[in-house]
Amino acid sequence: MKLRLVTLAGDGIGPEVTRQAMRVLHAVAAVTGLKVDVTEHPVGAAAIRSTGVPLPENTLTACLAADAVFLGAVGDPAFDQNPLPLRPEAGLLQLRTALGGFANLRPAVAFEPVLDVSPLRADRVRGADVLVVRELLGGLYFGEPRGRDADGQGAFNTLRYSVAEVERLAHIAFQQARLRRRLVTSVDKANVLEVSRLWRETVTRVGLEYPDVTLKHMYVDSFAMRLATAPTEFDVVVTDNLFGDILSDEAAVISGSLGLLPSATIGGKVALYEPVHGSAPDIAGKDIANPIGAIGCIALLLRHTKHMPREADAIDAATREVLAQGMRPADLARPGDPVTSTSDIGHAIERAVTDALERHWSYHGV
Ligand code: IPM
Ligand code: MG
Repeated sequence: MKLRLVTLAGDGIGPEVTRQAMRVLHAVAAVTGLKVDVTEHPVGAAAIRSTGVPLPENTLTACLAADAVFLGAVGDPAFDQNPLPLRPEAGLLQLRTALGGFANLRPAVAFEPVLDVSPLRADRVRGADVLVVRELLGGLYFGEPRGRDADGQGAFNTLRYSVAEVERLAHIAFQQARLRRRLVTSVDKANVLEVSRLWRETVTRVGLEYPDVTLKHMYVDSFAMRLATAPTEFDVVVTDNLFGDILSDEAAVISGSLGLLPSATIGGKVALYEPVHGSAPDIAGKDIANPIGAIGCIALLLRHTKHMPREADAIDAATREVLAQGMRPADLARPGDPVTSTSDIGHAIERAVTDALERHWSYHGV
């Protein structure tokens, strides 16, 4: 079995968290015999510095020829004043478009050993396990026309979705729900927006094909409140690009830190895996960033691209084990807690995964 992987470490903490995630992937490969063929390419600010553009041709060509792409983070305040197409973030948006993945899966779970870092009360988040399925290629992010009025005194973006775009996303949400607790909550603003009414009708129609899955609709404002007050009520949450961007950050509050969350973008030519957090330039290079979101991406990659659920579960279990031992990167440390470095956490998870898989393989064989 082989995996052709392109890694785009990107900016800020991207390289250091990517390094830890790769070490976990190599550990899984060593035990299972998975052959991993990795090539690294620049994206974001790193690419602007070396080539002048945030998504160089060579990077894109390599990504399109891979089985999967793993991206660390993009963003650098040095380029804040650049026009939008020459900002580091533009590299990510262009890449998402080119790879064609329209469904962004963002799981947010309450990790029992670090429930105390969530600003939400432990008794409210305990057991929460939400999967945000965010539309990634349409909506306000990409709608045309967009721009500034000729006199510069106004600006506009377009919110537009087609039935086909909503349908394909809804299918993914219902399919994911079948692997989980069989509840889909579709989030929209159908009391105000035409697009949301179309969204609601379409999701409802697709839902008829999944009679074993319960479908609920909620308005985005009341959903946002409910997610913070009763997160255990939700399973799969399906929503558009902008609402999904906002709500997936909110969902991170369940886990206590953005640094814990991975994401997978599927449905296109090549799947893209990226942690939900950004480049965090303020802590870059200090070996204190949380690598768990990036490591979680490796679990998602094994699950979705390589169909290796047992190995994916082993990574998730190893992460819990390491957190349960009390190791905490900077974002999870409480005042007075010792901070465990990025590389020590990566190393500990790598060892725990290796141990678990070796135990399993020596009992059960190949
Ligand atoms: C995310 C990020 C991106 C987005 C930015 C960096 C363009 O916030 O992945 O959630 O808005 O999609
Ligand atoms: Mg975001």
